[in-house]
Amino acid sequence: MILVTGGAGYIGSHTVRALEAAGFTPVILDNFSTGHRSFVGGTPLFEADICSPSDMHSVFAKYPIEGVLHFAGKALVPESYENPELYYRTNVTGGLNLLSAMKAHGVRHLIFSSTCATYGVPESVPITEAHPQRPINPYGETKRAFERALHWFNESCGLQYLSLRYFNAAGADASGQIGEDHDPETHLIPLALDAAAGRRHDVKIFGTDYPTPDGTCLRDYIHVSDLARAHVTGLRALLDGRVKSQPINLGTGRGYSVREVVESVRRVTGREFTVRETSRREGDPPVLVAAVDRARELLEWTAVESDLDRIVASAWKWLMVRPRSN
Ligand code: UFG
Repeated sequence: MILVTGGAGYIGSHTVRALEAAGFTPVILDNFSTGHRSFVGGTPLFEADICSPSDMHSVFAKYPIEGVLHFAGKALVPESYENPELYYRTNVTGGLNLLSAMKAHGVRHLIFSSTCATYGVPESVPITEAHPQRPINPYGETKRAFERALHWFNESCGLQYLSLRYFNAAGADASGQIGEDHDPETHLIPLALDAAAGRRHDVKIFGTDYPTPDGTCLRDYIHVSDLARAHVTGLRALLDGRVKSQPINLGTGRGYSVREVVESVRRVTGREFTVRETSRREGDPPVLVAAVDRARELLEWTAVESDLDRIVASAWKWLMVRPRSN
C-alpha cells in the first residue's frame, strides 16, 4: 500500500485518484484541518495528525506500507507570516515524525510535496533545480528545511526520495468531484473566478510595479492533474530504483502575468468583473518559472493539461458544482 499524507487535500486527493487508476492501493492519512471528507471517497482512511509521533507509528503498524507520498502540511504564504510556529511545527516537526516512523518500520521510499517557494527571488529564469535556495517567506523556509532533512536521511540511512518542487498548482479534476477549496482562499485563479461568479466584489492585483513586461508577477501555472500524474510516474521510478534521490521541478516552463490570468478568466467565463490594482503582497517573488528538463529526462513527464485557458476552464467547472463554503 501507498501512504498518502494529506490525501484529502487539494493535490493529495487528485493524486490518490491517479494512484488508484494506475493500480496502486493508497491509504489516506489526514486530520482534516484543511482537507475535505468529501474528497476521500472509498479510499481507506486513517484519521491522524502528522504532529503526533504515536499516530505516525500507528499507521505503519496497521498497514503494509511500501512507499509514502507526503502532502500533509501548511501551504499559504500569508498565513506563514502570521503563524510561523505553526509552519515549523507542521512542515518540519510533523515531517520528522513521519521520517522517524518510516525508519522504525523499514519504509524507504518517499515523495515530498515541495515548492518553488524554496528558491526565493530567482537570480535567473527559468529556474533549474541547481538554483540556490534562499526562501523569502516562512512557508518556503520550512519546506526547504524538510528538503535538507531528506538529504541527510538519504545519506545516513538510505531513504530514497524525490522532492517535487511544484510551481503554481491550479485547476481541477475533470470529474468535477474534487478541486481547489481553501479557507481562506488566497490564490489568484479561484479568487478571480469567484469575482466572475459574483461571489466577490472584485479581484485585486497585488503590485503593478514589478520588473516584468506588464508590471505584474509572472507565475508558471501547472494543472493539478498533471501534478498528480507526475507523482505516479515518480513513485514508479523510485520504487523500481530508476531514479536517484533528488529534487525535480514540476511546471510548464512558461510564465503568465497576473493580468494575463485575469484576461483568461474573462475569456473563459465570458463574465465581466472588477479588478483593483493594489500594492505588492509581502513575500511574492516577481517571476517564478520552472526549468522542466529534469522532469522530462528522468520521469519522461511533461505537462499536457496546463494550457492556461484549460486550467481556468476546469477550475470554473469545479466552482459551479462544488459545495459553497462561504
Ligand atoms: N495575486 C494577486 N491577487 C490575488 C492573489 C494573488 O494579484 O488576490 C498574485 C500574487 O501576488 C502572485 C500571483 O497572483 O503574483 C499568484 O499568487 P497565488 O497566491 O495564486 O500563488 P503564489 O504564487 O503566491 O503561491 C504559489 C504556491 C505557493 C508557493 C508560492 C511561491 O501556491 O505554495 O507560489 O511564491 F509558496
